[in-house]
Amino acid sequence: MGHAGNRKIVVIGSGAVGATTAYTLMLRERMNELVLIDARADKALGDALDMNHGIPFTHSANIWAGTYEDCRGADIIIVTAGAAQRPGESRQDLLVRNVAVFADIITNVTKYNHDGILLIATNPVDVLSYVTWKLCGWQRERVIGSGTLLDSARFRYLIGREYGVDPRSVHAHVIGEHGDTELPIWSRANIAGVPVELSPERRAELFAETRDAAYQIIAAKGATYYAIGLALDRICAAILGDEHAVLNVSTYLQDYHGIQDVYLGVPSVVGRFGVERVVDLDPNDDEISLLRHSAEVLRERIDLAMS
Ligand code: LAC
Repeated sequence: MGHAGNRKIVVIGSGAVGATTAYTLMLRERMNELVLIDARADKALGDALDMNHGIPFTHSANIWAGTYEDCRGADIIIVTAGAAQRPGESRQDLLVRNVAVFADIITNVTKYNHDGILLIATNPVDVLSYVTWKLCGWQRERVIGSGTLLDSARFRYLIGREYGVDPRSVHAHVIGEHGDTELPIWSRANIAGVPVELSPERRAELFAETRDAAYQIIAAKGATYYAIGLALDRICAAILGDEHAVLNVSTYLQDYHGIQDVYLGVPSVVGRFGVERVVDLDPNDDEISLLRHSAEVLRERIDLAMS
């Protein structure tokens, strides 16, 4: 971890997600040191310079384009590098390309950092979080994936839109794979504690809109980056502020309703040293069955990635 009081974040990958995340961290004054690392050195340099010129409008911070040596002393290393979905492509389609990229990235990070937190955003995020954990050899609680935090935010937004209320007053979870096998926990969805009552048809429509949101956005503008940038900032805030916040990040499951040895999104308590524990939503039987299916799919993909 960085020295007392210092908040150092490294973003690996200065593409749409990485650069937007870095900019979000700057606007939210999340850090006082921010390093951008990208194989395209000019891109990282350009983004760093461009953000530096905004410091007079935000807050005092040291922002620079660096190398893996700059991971030294970082509190959080966010990995966004790798191929992104093209229109019509699933997150799973990125697996082989991005596993190869990660071997190099994680090897380099761990040369210079041994006590930070690795926050994975590259897709397929659950598989790559597991691969990262295996590659880095760190305690699993210090390897976190963005998981279904973004999916849950989309879900809360759509339920809030349905009822005409601030989505921040909606408490609802999407768990499992950050992808096509994710599932909604309707049994626990509530607005200010009042259960959400919707017809099965309307529930199916709202969940489909949640699950397929990225495909829609990618078809419209080529990539998603604003909401994932805010989700990654939210996780950084929970870590740096030692908030013990419950966030649907991708975390290692040791035995969760019979699910073992997999990373997937579940409500997790996040603080200064990563994931402290998982919060059991006590899903109903149908939800557990869907979660187990999601875990099985991920387990198969992990085995493929590790082969
Ligand atoms: C999305 C990307 C981050 O869901 O997978 O927008």
